[in-house]
Amino acid sequence: MKRIAIVGCGTVGASWALVFARAGLEVMLFDEAPGAADRAHESVRGRLDADGGPMTAKITVADCLERAVADCDYVQESAPERLEIKRPLHQRLDTLVPPTAIVASSTSGFPASAFTEPLAHRRRCLVVHPINPPHLIPLVEIVPAPWTDPSVVERSAALMRDVGQSPVRLSREINGFLVNRLQSAILGEAFRLVEDGICSVDDVDRAVSDGLGLRWFFMGPFETIDLNAREGIAEYCRNLGPMYRTLAEEQADPRDWSETLVADVERQRRLYTKADDLAARRQWRDRCLTLLVEAKRQALGNAAAGGGKPTDL
Ligand SMILES: NC(=O)c1ccc[n+]([C@@H]2O[C@H](COP(=O)([O-])OP(=O)(O)OC[C@H]3O[C@@H](n4cnc5c(N)ncnc54)[C@H](O)[C@@H]3O)[C@@H](O)[C@H]2O)c1
Repeated sequence: MKRIAIVGCGTVGASWALVFARAGLEVMLFDEAPGAADRAHESVRGRLDADGGPMTAKITVADCLERAVADCDYVQESAPERLEIKRPLHQRLDTLVPPTAIVASSTSGFPASAFTEPLAHRRRCLVVHPINPPHLIPLVEIVPAPWTDPSVVERSAALMRDVGQSPVRLSREINGFLVNRLQSAILGEAFRLVEDGICSVDDVDRAVSDGLGLRWFFMGPFETIDLNAREGIAEYCRNLGPMYRTLAEEQADPRDWSETLVADVERQRRLYTKADDLAARRQWRDRCLTLLVEAKRQALGNAAAGGGKPTDL
């Protein structure tokens, strides 16, 4: 696939444009709001120049949707998360996009079936959901609708790998996809612990940033437990399965995040980050991400080559 159309050039669309452009693909940008695609173009160009990205990257701002998608191989729709926008937009894409091209949506929460059912070419539609910002975070969730052609899933995953992303494929539509289901389990427990006065917001945050998250930065929960028992995951499950079963029963009471609870969590967060400092803190987060993604690449390479001293007891 050579030509990519980004439809909707806001937060996520602009970041997607950088992902495809730095991989040397041709990128067409279209946004309904005047000036939005130009702004995305400028910021992607700036980033490519700053990072020594490919000079050959061809990025074009299209003045209409027709021209943006006319010759494309793949569309990454990144319009706002509203069905009253996505439905008519996908109706138009259905008629404008070449029949062999793939139409992927960045939607965070809707299944593709919610806005592609009546389309003539619905077999080429699916969700390719990034974690924001995709130019820094490689994971993408690929979620087919019931009618998505398996070859479309295959080709989308291959494209993602080719541009340096890390695709995970879900077998079918499910609320929250994979990442938000995991995040939901953790957030549910985090709010519960604070609501019940067991620990503070900062304690929960540090349990992840100074604890679980250090391993999760380069391995998932299954590999973590596989390495946490001498004989591996089966032994871990034999030893600790009953404990986790008890915990799961205690956690099986979904709760609202009440206004009082949210106000308390916000009050505690503001002790560390003032409301006026949130934007600066986001920039700090992105700087950390940039450095850590690079450090991770180097660390994994060094560790695979036998570098670094193991510090096991
Ligand atoms: N922001 C995130 O953290 C995040 C993460 C993952 C996925 N997503 C998903 O990505 C999509 C875009 O989110 P965002 O945060 O970039 O939104 P955004 O509001 O920043 O950008 C949306 C852009 O789409 C444009 N637009 C509106 N209607 C359009 C149309 N008919 N045709 C073309 N462009 C149109 C808007 O002018 C705007 O520039 C949503 O589906 C969202 O759920 C967002």
